[in-house]
Amino acid sequence: MWSEERQPRVADLAPCGSPTLAHADALSPGFLKVEGLSKCFVPGRPVFDGVDFQISRGEFVCIIGHSGCGKTTILNVLAGLDQATSGHVFMDGRAVEGPGLERGVVFQTHALMPWLTVGKNIAFAVRSRWPDWSEAQVLAHVRTHVDKVGLLSAMDKKPAQLSGGMKQRVGIARAFAIQPKMLLLDEPFGALDALTRGSIQDQLMGIVGQTQQTVFMITHDVDEAILLADRILLMSNGRDTDQGHVPGGIAEVVVNPLPRQRQRAQLHHLPGYYELRNHMVDFLVSRALAGAA
Ligand SMILES: Nc1ncnc2c1ncn2[C@@H]1O[C@H](COP(=O)(O)OP(=O)(O)OP(=O)(O)O)[C@@H](O)[C@H]1O
Ligand SMILES: [Mg+2]
Repeated sequence: MWSEERQPRVADLAPCGSPTLAHADALSPGFLKVEGLSKCFVPGRPVFDGVDFQISRGEFVCIIGHSGCGKTTILNVLAGLDQATSGHVFMDGRAVEGPGLERGVVFQTHALMPWLTVGKNIAFAVRSRWPDWSEAQVLAHVRTHVDKVGLLSAMDKKPAQLSGGMKQRVGIARAFAIQPKMLLLDEPFGALDALTRGSIQDQLMGIVGQTQQTVFMITHDVDEAILLADRILLMSNGRDTDQGHVPGGIAEVVVNPLPRQRQRAQLHHLPGYYELRNHMVDFLVSRALAGAA
């Protein structure tokens, strides 16, 4: 059994509830508000329904769930790349109605322009964000962000000349370079081997720690969520029952009780780590797909 201190705090989300988080609440609770979101691709069979959550400024939130539950669809709605069937998304007090440079997206498949070098891929985004900047300003800004992900020596290479991990880092550098109010990451490390994944996770943690960036990230990896997230949204899949179709949704919100300054190699020594991990694995094994079609 979990002790009081070690027990991850698990909160239901209705309505729009958000468990407290000391450092983020102090900054700006409700920086991102998601209210009553649902999405139907097939009439009468919503993928998810009644999705409510909030993210505070400076908070790192992961969403975890099985394939097909609707994680990417939610992220695309937050990015303004897709529209919800019903519900609303507000960021910094304004309704999200389309894509915008205040949200930086890192796609699972990095989405770099293959004909441009690393530097030019990022410069393209920087020029869109600050059209009045001189070439020298753009170049200096690009170099700063390429340096942060350790790729200065690859500035003049094209994506085809890079490894998968390097391409992911370019995608991350590009998203950071436009200094978005919020980062939206769709399984950014999904295709990487364990070593590369660990090292890019460390870099991301370092940059997020420096910039106090607000992040919403999709992952399939329980340990990645425990390492990176302040809170973890557990999402269930839609399913067919005798009473009809039951949409998926956010089943629980888990507050990460581990100290924020955590390191990958030390995670499993921290009190509460195994309880948290077991709780999430149990959810994925026993409840996330319960009765799913
Ligand atoms: N454009 C679309 N048209 C029809 N159905 C779609 C479309 N996009 C997604 N879906 C369906 O919506 C559901 C959720 O898809 P989504 O990509 O959001 O899942 P996911 O949780 O991100 O899965 P994964 O972990 O595999 O990436 C799936 O059943 C998918 O088939
Ligand atoms: Mg997806």
